Amino acid sequence: MTDEKCRVLEHVDVGGGYRRLVLNAPNIVSNVEAGQFVHVRVPGLDESSLRRPFSVFNAQDDRLFLLYKEVGRGTRVLGLVKEGDEVMVLGPLGHGFPLECKGAALLVGGGYGVAPLYLLARSLLARNVGPVKLFAGGRSQADLLAIDAFRELGVEVFLATNDGSVGEKGLVTLPLDAEIAKLKGASQDFEIFACGPDPMLKAVAERALSANAKGWISMDRHMICGVGACYACIQKTVRGNSRCCIEGPVFAAGDLVWE
Ligand SMILES: Cc1cc2nc3c(=O)[nH]c(=O)nc-3n(C[C@H](O)[C@H](O)[C@H](O)COP(=O)(O)OP(=O)(O)OC[C@H]3O[C@@H](n4cnc5c(N)ncnc54)[C@H](O)[C@@H]3O)c2cc1C
Ligand code: FES
Repeated sequence: MTDEKCRVLEHVDVGGGYRRLVLNAPNIVSNVEAGQFVHVRVPGLDESSLRRPFSVFNAQDDRLFLLYKEVGRGTRVLGLVKEGDEVMVLGPLGHGFPLECKGAALLVGGGYGVAPLYLLARSLLARNVGPVKLFAGGRSQADLLAIDAFRELGVEVFLATNDGSVGEKGLVTLPLDAEIAKLKGASQDFEIFACGPDPMLKAVAERALSANAKGWISMDRHMICGVGACYACIQKTVRGNSRCCIEGPVFAAGDLVWE
């Protein structure tokens, strides 16, 4: 883990309140695994203010790609960062996704929850694991991010939106359930990997457990230190309280205790 001074190579609006931030981060890029995150010090916020955690969307050729949504003060101020600026980034942090997937890999993302799934798809495909299928859901089309990038990797994509603006109308579990039924009918192995809002993650974890398949769930918790010291990011598990920034953010579906 390093606290790396990273030059901003690109910072663009990708619509729907989301932005892509590309940083020159050779140290982090050379060590990162799919599902890990970085803790970004937002330039312009006062020194005492906290860093903000973001999943690593991609890491390639010294470049670290983040995909984030503006939700509050930190992400609003981060939006002011310009190409050429320098940003301190701590990482890579946490435990990512295991890559020993047996059978099909079903990746399920809600909104910016697709962020850790792109590097995961690349990593699985590089190990000849698959097929890799993405199930992306959101309120409307603007919440479905980087879909073409997944397709370019050779990932089969299934979409669902609450308003029906693209894909199936309804929750992302609709196409996921259909695929699970198909795979089970054909006695094919699969594992599920998910990141997104808690209700979606709970629904996905339940499906993995009832299908007797492995499920890997990336939890999104408020973080303060990002390195295990403050206990702000507690997730209840069957083994007691776990720190999302150290034992997570990825947990086995069967380990999670939902409140
Ligand atoms: C491991 C991890 C990976 C993440 N990856 C990404 C990513 O790739 N892209 C992305 O856009 N965001 C990601 N997040 C969430 C991101 O860190 C928060 O949206 C950000 O910190 C909000 O900062 P803020 O100052 O703008 O908002 P704040 O002013 O702190 O909060 C604004 C609103 O967002 C809510 N909020 C803040 N943080 C969280 C959180 N962690 N979970 C749920 N609600 C929150 C608050 O309750 C409030 O309603 C990730 C979080 C974690 C823990
Ligand atoms: S954020 Fe401090 S222990 Fe996890």
